[in-house]
Amino acid sequence: MLSTKQLAAIRREYRLALLDEHTIAANPFDQLERWLTEAINAGLPEPTAMVLATVTPEGSPAARVVLLKGIEDGKLHFYTNIESPKGQQIAAHPRVALVFYWAELERQVRIEGIATLLDRDTVAAYFATRPRPAQIGAWASRQSSPLPSRQVLEEAVARYTEQFATTEHIPPPPWWGGYAVEPVMFEFWQGRESRLHDRFRYDRTTDGWVRQRLSP
Ligand SMILES: Cc1cc2nc3c(=O)[nH]c(=O)nc-3n(C[C@H](O)[C@H](O)[C@H](O)COP(=O)(O)O)c2cc1C
Repeated sequence: MLSTKQLAAIRREYRLALLDEHTIAANPFDQLERWLTEAINAGLPEPTAMVLATVTPEGSPAARVVLLKGIEDGKLHFYTNIESPKGQQIAAHPRVALVFYWAELERQVRIEGIATLLDRDTVAAYFATRPRPAQIGAWASRQSSPLPSRQVLEEAVARYTEQFATTEHIPPPPWWGGYAVEPVMFEFWQGRESRLHDRFRYDRTTDGWVRQRLSP
């Protein structure tokens, strides 16, 4: 077991960059796009990965990673099984939180907002861009339901591969879809030396976005 001493000794200084009132964008979507572009250009392995936090019908928090697949009309899109636990949680409580963490750039972005189901045309258009094995996988998997064995999953894949053998364009399964998250809050965190990080929070108001610097 790792000792507390070992864990406590893991420490890193953040010195790569700074974020200030002169360099940060006036609009949080512009700032997010800047940082996402830098994460992509830096060749990070999963630059679009974000932790999605939801609330269960009983009021417990739940979190997992999903991939950002679009930013349109002020909303962030991701795709999933809409009957999965996260889908059921969003149906009960549409308020969600998202977190991007780009360790190599010493940056975090936190977002809070409201999730709504994407329309079926948008879902179908994205589904069509997925590789065929991933399309078949979406049919074969009832996400997060218990599986007695790996073999059961592989048999389902074989069954759907056969079923769609002569289908050129595989449609999305009815249980597969996506969500658009409309942010009401953004926070940009840039690591700085001695834990004196730069943090800026944007809150959506009826007059637009209001920005303030936060204590580290
Ligand atoms: C890097 C990474 C990317 C992922 N992307 C997605 C995604 O885009 N959509 C998705 O449904 N699950 C994705 N997952 C799996 C989820 O984290 C999670 O295991 C799954 O969606 C079931 O979550 P739920 O039981 O809370 O509904 C990803 C996992 C990782 C580690």
